[in-house]
Order: sequence, then C-alpha cells, then structure tokens
Amino acid sequence: MNTPTQTQRVWDLPTRAFHWALALLIALQYATGEFGLLDMHWHFRFGYVALALIGFRVLWGFFGSQTSRFRDFVRGPRAVLRYLRARMSTNPQRSIGHNPLGGWSVLALLGSVAVQAVSGLFSSDDIDTDGPLVAHVSDRIVKLMTRVHHWNQNVLLILVGLHLVAVLLYWLLKHDNLIAPMISGAKRVTQTRELRFANVWLAIALFALCAAAVALLVWCSG
Ligand code: HEM
Ligand code: HEM
Repeated sequence: MNTPTQTQRVWDLPTRAFHWALALLIALQYATGEFGLLDMHWHFRFGYVALALIGFRVLWGFFGSQTSRFRDFVRGPRAVLRYLRARMSTNPQRSIGHNPLGGWSVLALLGSVAVQAVSGLFSSDDIDTDGPLVAHVSDRIVKLMTRVHHWNQNVLLILVGLHLVAVLLYWLLKHDNLIAPMISGAKRVTQTRELRFANVWLAIALFALCAAAVALLVWCSG
C-alpha cells in the first residue's frame, strides 16, 4: 500500500459550503415534509434555497475550480471500468477530486435533488398546501408532479444511502478518508497534481444570481 506523504488542497470553499448546506437542507426537507417539523412554509423556504444551490452547483461545474468542473470528473464507461480494475490492485492511487465512478454518483445526486425541488414547485396535497406554480398549470400536470415529488423522495433517499455507504467503505476498506477533505479542503496524497482554483467572489456572484432568479420566479408566481 502506498503511504500518503504529502498534503494537497483538493476542494475549494464554495464546493464544501455547497455540500454541507445541501446535506443540511435535504435533512430539513424530509423533517418538514414527512415528519411535520415546523410549518410547511419552511419546507418551501428551504426548498427555494436548495433550488438556488443546485443552480449554483451547475454553474460552478462550468466556471468553478478544476476539481468541481464536470469535465474534470464526468467520464465515459471505459474510464469507470479502468478505474475499477485499478482499484482492485493492491497498490491503488488516492483520487484527487471525484473518481470516475464517484463522478456519476455526483450527477445522480444533483439530478435527483433538482427533480425533487422543481417538482415541488408544482406539487399539491389537495388540501391546503400548494407549490407556488400550481395555479399556473393544469390539474394533470399538478397530479403528475406531485407523484414525481412522492416517488423521487425515495430515489433520493436510496442515492444518499448509497453515497454514505460508499464513503464509509472507502474509509474502512481502502483507508481513504474522504470526509476530512470535504471539511478542510485538504487531503493526504501519495502524488500531488497541479490544480487551478477559482475566485471565491465569483462563487458568491453566481450564487447571488441563482438566488435572485429563484426569488423572481416565486415573486412572479404570487
Ligand atoms: C442529504 C445528504 C447529502 C447529499 C445530497 C450529498 C450530496 C453530495 C454531492 C452532490 C457531492 C459532490 C460534491 C460536489 O462536487 O459538489 C458529495 C460529495 C461528498 N459527500 Fe455528500 N451528500 C450528503 C451527505 C453527506 C454526508 C452526511 C457525508 C459524510 C458523512 C457526505 C460526504 C461526502 C464526501 C466525503 C464527498 C466527497 C466525495 C469524493 O471525495 O469524491 N455527504 N455529496
Ligand atoms: C429540494 C428538496 C425537497 C425535498 C427532499 C422534499 C421532500 C418532501 C417530502 C419528503 C414530502 C412529503 C411527501 C409525502 O407526504 O409523502 C414533501 C411534500 C411536499 N413538498 Fe417537498 N421537498 C423538496 C422541495 C420542495 C419544494 C422546492 C417545494 C415547493 C416550493 C415543495 C413542495 C412540497 C409540497 C406542496 C408537498 C406536499 C405534497 C403532498 O403532500 O402531496 N417541496 N416534500
């Protein structure tokens, strides 16, 4: 086994802040939607923030730091197979950024949260809780979107479960602690890689843009 001897900055602050804010918000969404914690108005408010965060992360995937860019970690099936074969070897390298398999799980998580947040805008419990865009579409669309909101909450739960199991297995089986770098930004590695990091003010501007777009959407729908 290669022993990591160097420390490398892997994740920028915006990506780490995005990740932990998203994890907290998803927990709050289940607590408010499913378990009746707080008023459903809070389910909507947290949902709007989640929507803005997803918008930000998509933009950050194109304009952000190297390890956060989609082109850095979205790879074809052959790269995934090559990675898996290398992982089976007794001397695997630690990934700097998302590995080819993890890249697909990132897309699945982001996609599922996006579907959940967008479908919520058109969902209704047929009693007194209507998403802000319900009045602007037909009953058929509302029924469909409400079904998507119910169905996808389970898909999202499964994806988050797999995500946590994968993180735990890397730790237990490969002695590769992925959590510490998602907190501090830095990782112990065997070999460093030259990386480019984007300006944190760009991240703030992109998030503000997404938050303003969501606020405008909600305001116009009222
Ligand atoms: C609802 C809960 C969660 C969601 C939706 C979620 C989603 C995500 C997403 C989208 C990423 C990619 C980060 C990016 O490039 O933007 C990621 C990475 C990561 N998450 Fe989570 N996460 C959740 C909870 C957690 C928790 C509780 C932990 C720790 C115990 C965790 C540990 C990690 C780690 C270590 C990575 C980096 C993986 C790597 O090195 O490739 N996540 N997560
Ligand atoms: C982004 C992550 C979100 C998650 C994880 C989430 C999760 C949930 C859950 C677990 C329920 C309970 C469903 C049930 O009773 O089986 C629910 C209901 C609901 N959510 Fe969300 N939600 C999200 C975003 C949103 C957004 C952005 C809106 C609207 C602005 C919204 C509007 C609603 C409505 C209207 C209901 C009631 C529907 C019904 O009970 O049939 N949700 N959500």
